[in-house]
Amino acid sequence: MKAAAAIDGERLWRRHMALAEIGATGKGGVNRQALGADEARARALLAEWAGERGYRVSVDGISNLFVRREGTDPALAPVLTGSHIDSQPTGGRFDGAYGVLAALEALQALDEAGIETARPIEAVAWLNEEGSRFAPGMMGSEAFCNLRPLDDILAVTDRAGVSVADELPRALAATPGAERREIGFPVAAFVEAHIEQGPALERAGLPIGVVTGIQGVRRMRVRVTGEEAHAGTTPPSARRDALWEAARMIDALQRNIHRTEEHRFTVGMMEIRPNVPSVVASEVLFSIDIRHPDSDTLARLEAGVAAICRGASLACDFESWTIAASPSIRFDDRVVDTVEAAAADLGLGHMRIFSGAGHDARQLSHVCPTGMIFVPCEGGISHNEAENATPADLADGARVLAETLVRLAAG
Ligand code: GLV
Ligand code: MN
Ligand code: MN
Repeated sequence: MKAAAAIDGERLWRRHMALAEIGATGKGGVNRQALGADEARARALLAEWAGERGYRVSVDGISNLFVRREGTDPALAPVLTGSHIDSQPTGGRFDGAYGVLAALEALQALDEAGIETARPIEAVAWLNEEGSRFAPGMMGSEAFCNLRPLDDILAVTDRAGVSVADELPRALAATPGAERREIGFPVAAFVEAHIEQGPALERAGLPIGVVTGIQGVRRMRVRVTGEEAHAGTTPPSARRDALWEAARMIDALQRNIHRTEEHRFTVGMMEIRPNVPSVVASEVLFSIDIRHPDSDTLARLEAGVAAICRGASLACDFESWTIAASPSIRFDDRVVDTVEAAAADLGLGHMRIFSGAGHDARQLSHVCPTGMIFVPCEGGISHNEAENATPADLADGARVLAETLVRLAAG
């Protein structure tokens, strides 16, 4: 238990608060968009903290950032642990940041406890998990795991037409002392610590969630095309109103897909043209996010989207397409058991839990044994500036992480 005993909860909390100043929002959250100026400052701060401890900092060609604590056998594949430092535009202080800072804290605790591991352990901040500026997200982990062609990722543009390739140099320049590394290398295991982003742990009064897997998701887009027309002179029969028809489609989708408490259907983004009060809208682009723990159900829901939109459309044209599709995944039994045993040995209350939110761990699970550790967040609130967690819970999660890493990096 020496590694867990060396976790410094105050230091971990101080770092959260320092990181949260970068991109701080008026309501106490953060806005750190992937590849933006604030994200670059956050990278620099992480590298500074790592440098103070003498850890080797490296960055790969898609700007995933790594901090390495050497093993006694440097030739062995490392154990990776981490998450992301980008946020939603109205994001909280802990989503992603916790996994990266807990990783750094765990490395430091191992040092302070004088623990050697055969395998190196690397803390990682993956590029663009959230996908709010450049969609879809999980870019860094997808590139690392070779799940999506690099050229496709580099070509993604934000709403202003700026591409990932355009903005990448800023992220790479944020850590000038970092070694450059190839994208993707052998990994022995990956563990990600994260706030739960839901209410289950808080309701159960337990500090630790042993995550067994992640539910599947479909991210789609629908473009509705009508025609601009004068709001005062054009009678209803002559209109091709893209906004009204998009609203009809969303209502029909909501009623058809959101059938049970297990179904998750969200339209969170809409772009309207020309988006002025006195012109009938000629084009609407909206997003669809569908999630369900059963992969077959999810595939069926996705397949039904076009027919539901067709049924709701009147005079406009539309097209729908999928930009990201992930089935539900189950984490590696050995990693799940290791997390569970670490929590039990530390005397921390825990329960097994299936993640409703997506995480980089989903991507990593395709290339190495993977698991996650959840800690409670206040009221289950996340993707919200009010997101909150207690210093004690964050520290307990870091303790479980440190013990898990010691066991996984043993050789
Ligand atoms: C990740 O932030 C997700 O949307 O699940
Ligand atoms: Mn996250
Ligand atoms: Mn998130």
